[in-house]
Amino acid sequence: MSKIKTEAEIKILKEGGKKLANILRTLAKEVKPGVSTWFLNEKTKSLIDKAGAKAAFLNYVPEGASRPYPAVICISINDEIVHGIPNENPKTLKDGDIVKLDCGISYKGLFTDSAVTVIAGLGDKNALKLIRATEEALIAAIKIAVPGRKINDIGAVIEKIARKRGFAPARDLGGHSVGHAIHEEPYIPNYKMSGKSAVIEEGMVLAIEPMLVEKKGDIKLNADGWTYSTKDGGRAAHAEHTIVVRKSRPEILTL
Ligand code: MF3
Ligand code: CO
Repeated sequence: MSKIKTEAEIKILKEGGKKLANILRTLAKEVKPGVSTWFLNEKTKSLIDKAGAKAAFLNYVPEGASRPYPAVICISINDEIVHGIPNENPKTLKDGDIVKLDCGISYKGLFTDSAVTVIAGLGDKNALKLIRATEEALIAAIKIAVPGRKINDIGAVIEKIARKRGFAPARDLGGHSVGHAIHEEPYIPNYKMSGKSAVIEEGMVLAIEPMLVEKKGDIKLNADGWTYSTKDGGRAAHAEHTIVVRKSRPEILTL
C-alpha cells in the first residue's frame, strides 16, 4: 500500500474524518463528573455504529503489544497520557479530571484517528493552560506539514511550543501515518530528534498528536499492558488530527 493516498482515497478519508469529528464532539459533551468511562465506551460503540463505520481500535494488536486493545476508544485521565482502557476497571469521572478521548474509525475501509482533551466540570488554571498549549502545538505542527519539510520538524515544533508554555512533550510516544491501517510508517516523533528523517510528501495522510505533560516527559507502561502514564504523576493533555499534506497548505480531515 502506498504511503501516498489517491484523491479517491482522500475523499473517503474526509467523509470518515467528518464522522469521527462528530463522534468526538458528541462524546466531549458527555464528559462530566459522575459519568463512567464504561458508559462513554458504550456510547462510542453506538455512535460509530450509527455513522456506518467500524471501530479501528478494538482488537488492534500493534507490534510488541501483549494483548489486543479491548475497547473502541482510549480514555486516559489526569496522569494517564494515552491508551487508557475505559471498560476494564471503569472509572467514574470527578470534578476537575483532565480527560483524553482518543478514537479511530474505519469508513469504507479507510482509517482516521483523532483525539481531544476535555475537563470534567471545572478545571484548575494549569489544566486549562496545559490543554491550550497542546492544542497550540497541534496547530503549529499541522502548519509545517508541507511537502519538502522533514517528519522530524514536526517534533521540533511540538517541543518548542511545549517548552515555551512551561510544559514538556511526553517521551517515546508520537504520531504516525494513517489510512490503510491505524498505524503506518513513518512514525512521527513528538519532540526534537536528530538524525535521519523522512521527507514530507504531497498526498501523505498523517495523524499528528502532541502529548504535553505538566512536569517531566518520562513515561511508564501500566500493569494493564496498555495505559501509558507519566512517571512523576504530572498530568497530561493530548490533541490529534488526521491531515492530508497538500501542495499549498495541509488540510485537516477530522474536522
Ligand atoms: N491514537 C492512538 C495512537 O495512535 C490509537 C491507538 S490504537 C489502540 O496510538 F488500539 F492502541 F488503542
Ligand atoms: Co494516533
